[in-house]
Amino acid sequence: MCGIVGFVGTNKVKDVLLDGLKELEYRGYDSAGIAVLQDKEFSSYKAVGKLDNLVQKVADFDPKGFAIGIGHTRWATHGKPTELNAHPHLGDASYVVHNGIIENYQEIKNELMAEGTHFLSQTDTEVIVHLFEKYLATEATPFEAFQKTLAKLEGAYAILLATKSMPDTIFFAKNGSPMIVGVNDEGEKVFASSDAPLIGHAKDVIYLGDGEYGFVSPTALELFDKRHQRVKPSLTPLPTSKLSAQKEGYRFFMEKEIYEQSDVISDAMLGRLQDESINFDELDPTLFDGINEIKLCACGTSYHSALASSYLFERYAKVRTSVEIASELRYKEPLLLKDTLFVVISQSGETADTLETLKMAKAAGLKTLVICNVDNSSMVRLADASILTRAGIEKGVASTKAFATQMTVFWMLALYVSQLRNTLSIEKIKDQIHALREVPNSVKIDDNLHEKIRRLSKRYLHGHGFFFIGRDVFFPLALEGALKLKEITYLHAEGYPSGEMKHGPIAMADPELFTIALMPKGLLYDKTKSNVEELSARDSTICAISPVTFDKADDFIQTKEHGHYMLEFFEMMVVLQLLSMEISVRLGNDVDMPRNLAKSVTVE
Ligand code: F6R
Repeated sequence: MCGIVGFVGTNKVKDVLLDGLKELEYRGYDSAGIAVLQDKEFSSYKAVGKLDNLVQKVADFDPKGFAIGIGHTRWATHGKPTELNAHPHLGDASYVVHNGIIENYQEIKNELMAEGTHFLSQTDTEVIVHLFEKYLATEATPFEAFQKTLAKLEGAYAILLATKSMPDTIFFAKNGSPMIVGVNDEGEKVFASSDAPLIGHAKDVIYLGDGEYGFVSPTALELFDKRHQRVKPSLTPLPTSKLSAQKEGYRFFMEKEIYEQSDVISDAMLGRLQDESINFDELDPTLFDGINEIKLCACGTSYHSALASSYLFERYAKVRTSVEIASELRYKEPLLLKDTLFVVISQSGETADTLETLKMAKAAGLKTLVICNVDNSSMVRLADASILTRAGIEKGVASTKAFATQMTVFWMLALYVSQLRNTLSIEKIKDQIHALREVPNSVKIDDNLHEKIRRLSKRYLHGHGFFFIGRDVFFPLALEGALKLKEITYLHAEGYPSGEMKHGPIAMADPELFTIALMPKGLLYDKTKSNVEELSARDSTICAISPVTFDKADDFIQTKEHGHYMLEFFEMMVVLQLLSMEISVRLGNDVDMPRNLAKSVTVE
């Protein structure tokens, strides 16, 4: 995801900006840029791809003496990853960097264009700098122009702005996206969107609150709250370990990534949800012409998201959908017919088995699509079309947020295909979009829920196995819950369709068999309940996850009631992730780097 750095001081501007961007690399990005203001002149450099490309471009740039600078790593949301769309964005004599989303940017852009402003990029960010320059002409001071700009913006942002009209000053603002200001004894000021880039450059930091804004110069640090009252900055000592700073206060990357899901799901939906329709700029609708079947193919967690989405494709888009495990498809001499759209799903875009199946499908002349988290990966380069899931880099080996964004993209894609095939009315699509907008809320974690799962986890450290059970899309979610548990606790777990238990596995039921039952209220509740009662009657230890109180369970995790079963899906996904993590913690395992596993499996 995007990262921001900024610096006011002497001799170090280039190093602080580039080192800071390097520290933010782990968050994922597809382009980067800096702008430095020295002796009233700006120098700006941008590059697509790895930070090294930017480093090479600035090799001969040596700004000695006092300077101010701002820098950014961008993960494309509005507009493709190109140099023009990379930050910083230029007005006439000012540059801006921004994280977040300006929700009313189109309205502002239309107004400014009608007044003759020329835009260079497709980003929402560029409106900020043009708006500022418009107000610069009318307001008494640049700071008032900045205040007036902020008053027009709706949405989430962390902003740094530098302007020739106050060449020793950086304006800043935060609302919804993180921003930290660091200070040291030399009077230097350093900005970053997380702690890590500040380490070594700042002694104390100010964690800006939402609605706060102000400016810094060598001699000033002025801070205002959302009611425009001047506030005294409250300084906190900066942590000294970079690794722990990257974890942003969480114990593990996995925990941080579970908590990040609300944000990355919002990113995955950015620009793709309209009021009455789903839009994928990256797709040419003719991709679906002549298609009578969708074949989804993946490994591991990505396979689970594919399996869950197959229910959505058939239910909403009324298109025949099959799901394949890549390592199986490779050697089963599959029938690959030209009226099939072949879709591979992969966080990394490099998994050897999945990549091979994509090659097979292409060789057989099928149209292909990849749903992937990594731009420019082998699969993205090979497939006819791609949709990026925008989860940012996932460091925990056990996938969490990547799965969450895959599911978000799949739900949107099922609706997109249903639009093309006219299988849902506008009203039904609108209801679904309304529900989709609720997903980021459904995965927010209440402290009480996390605490309950933490306490409960101590009862699940032994036993002769876990069965995660569910119906419909909750069956693939059960598979994913079981996989998470296996990966980081090394306990045996299986995912099973609730209705299948009586066809064999119920023979295992006894108090040492743990059943984790997914019992959504909005989908087949009574059917699932009967299956869980059958297990309870045979004395299996039951942990029920449901909005509906269930008195036959030994443990009960209450989830919220939602207007759509998919929102229950997302909330239960978080419960399962937390449960595995807390069991793993109690067992003393390495949560982020479980034994025997690698993040990307590039061998067969
Ligand atoms: C589990 C996990 C793996 C991957 C699988 C495929 O937490 O991450 O099961 O899903 O190795 O990897 P990708 O999605 O990169 O193709």
